[in-house]
Amino acid sequence: MITAQELREKYFAFFKEKGHVIIPSASLIPENDPTVLFTTAGMHPLVPYVMGEKHPEGTRLADVQKCVRTGDIDEVGDTTHNTFFEMLGNWSLGDYFKKESIAWSWEFLTDKKWLSIDPEKLYVTVYEGDGEVPKDEESIKLWQEQFKSVGIDAKEGERIFALGREDNWWGPAGQTGPCGPDTEIFYDTDKEACGAHCKPGCGCGKYVEIWNNVFMEYNKQSDGLYVPLAQKNVDTGMGVERTVAVLNGMESVFEIDTLSPLIKKLEQLSGQKYQDNELSFRIVADHIRASVMMVSDGAVPSNVEQGYVLRRLIRRAVRHGRLLGISGAFLGELAQEVFAIFDGVYESVRANHTLIVSVLGAEEERFTKTLERGLKRFNELVASEKAAGRVIGAKDAFDLFQSYGFPFEMTQELAREHELDVDEKGFYEEFNKHQDLSRTASAGKFKGGLADHGEAAIKYHTATHLLHAALHRVLGGHATQKGSNITAERLRFDFMHPQKMTPEEIAEVEDFVNDAIKKDLPVSVEEMPVEAAKAKGAMGLFEGKYGDKVKVYSIGDVSKEICGGPHVVHTGVLGAFKITKEESASAGVRRIKATLSSILSEGA
Ligand code: ALA
Repeated sequence: MITAQELREKYFAFFKEKGHVIIPSASLIPENDPTVLFTTAGMHPLVPYVMGEKHPEGTRLADVQKCVRTGDIDEVGDTTHNTFFEMLGNWSLGDYFKKESIAWSWEFLTDKKWLSIDPEKLYVTVYEGDGEVPKDEESIKLWQEQFKSVGIDAKEGERIFALGREDNWWGPAGQTGPCGPDTEIFYDTDKEACGAHCKPGCGCGKYVEIWNNVFMEYNKQSDGLYVPLAQKNVDTGMGVERTVAVLNGMESVFEIDTLSPLIKKLEQLSGQKYQDNELSFRIVADHIRASVMMVSDGAVPSNVEQGYVLRRLIRRAVRHGRLLGISGAFLGELAQEVFAIFDGVYESVRANHTLIVSVLGAEEERFTKTLERGLKRFNELVASEKAAGRVIGAKDAFDLFQSYGFPFEMTQELAREHELDVDEKGFYEEFNKHQDLSRTASAGKFKGGLADHGEAAIKYHTATHLLHAALHRVLGGHATQKGSNITAERLRFDFMHPQKMTPEEIAEVEDFVNDAIKKDLPVSVEEMPVEAAKAKGAMGLFEGKYGDKVKVYSIGDVSKEICGGPHVVHTGVLGAFKITKEESASAGVRRIKATLSSILSEGA
């Protein structure tokens, strides 16, 4: 078995040996590029350097790039597609070209020291040529030499296939920019061929593309002309998920170590078996990964552009979660699994747990409020329109969008499940009529407000646990919680205590909390039976409400409390804690209001 991390490490080690500098992944949200919503390949952020600008790290680079291909959303559910995926890549910026590129791909794939793939399993495709660009005879020759070195006679039409623009030409997702012929490397899964015509490039799944080497030597201009670039470049892409899956002989990408923990967690949360409902499992696992990654790079759900794609993914995940029988909020817990998978790989994930959980949670909550009523409305529509022999009309689809938060594609997906069509053209006409309105609304509503609100609330929530622990320490075990209320600006906490706190006690409580913040204590969560939680001394606040298993949040060794979360991951992010008021709430109950200074200054 090979894991995703092992593949990444091997890849980097190999290309370092070949003189490459490993560079960090760029953001999923492209900087300064209006032609695409998301980074779709490792090449994308490197376009200026392929065009001739000098890269600070030199002419040989390698990386693992976070990628999203939204065109694949509807294909998620089969065995090889993901919306978010990781792409390993190596680049020559006017340095080496076809010869080294093909030789190194061969070495990395087949050498015992590296991936040690049986050469018999490998097939390649090259560009067949057209009026503008000749057939790539050079690559054919280079591949034949490699195969020959292990005694394989790699004939064209048997082991090497020349294909057209559709298959063996690569350019950026936008309309213009650097492009060129490519040579793609396929792995034979040994599945039965789908027919006599089956060959690499066929979509049946027998041959899986694992690596694509692009020989980027043209620039496509906006007038449609291909102009040779000043320098010849190589851009390669190896999909981590697919490669790990085929190397391990796995049925699908969902079995590999960067996806299977999500499937397992979903089995726990739903009580269902993956085998019984693969489609919904796969959709939720894929979409939570993509959503976490998008938010980690700054996307926020909205009705436009990246935000709309993110919203579609989150809401589709929520609906498929419901189909699996999960009734409560679940995205936060799944996000924790994604953190475990990618923390060590992408800084954007490691640094943004709190933000991610709050953004996903807020969107999940918002959609949950209308989902059930929306489904009811949808089912009524199915009944009435089917009976009348009609499709779902534009106005109704727009109403589902506007009043119930159903992304249009979700209405289409639901309709397909009922073998009904939706008036797509009519929907977009309806949508356009309202668009200016929603554009303004979403810009104002989602940019700062909601995310910051969720973020602040989570910080105050963790600060409340620290305060509770401090009160026990300073005043005594009787100072138990009677109530709590959190806004984006402050926390409010009611607790049992017979008299007014002295200024010294207040200072002591503040010091205790600030001390815990300064120590940057880790916050961890465990699930256990209520009895076990009590035995461990966890503070249990609303005991009557809890079922058998409860979550216990620990903050270093200063606090242990039964709670549903979410919380920050490290206390260091909370900022300075200050009690702004101490007063009576009712007989025998005191009330504290307190602020965190980091949040105040962020809001200013
Ligand atoms: N840029 C090439 C691809 O995405 C390598 O396949």
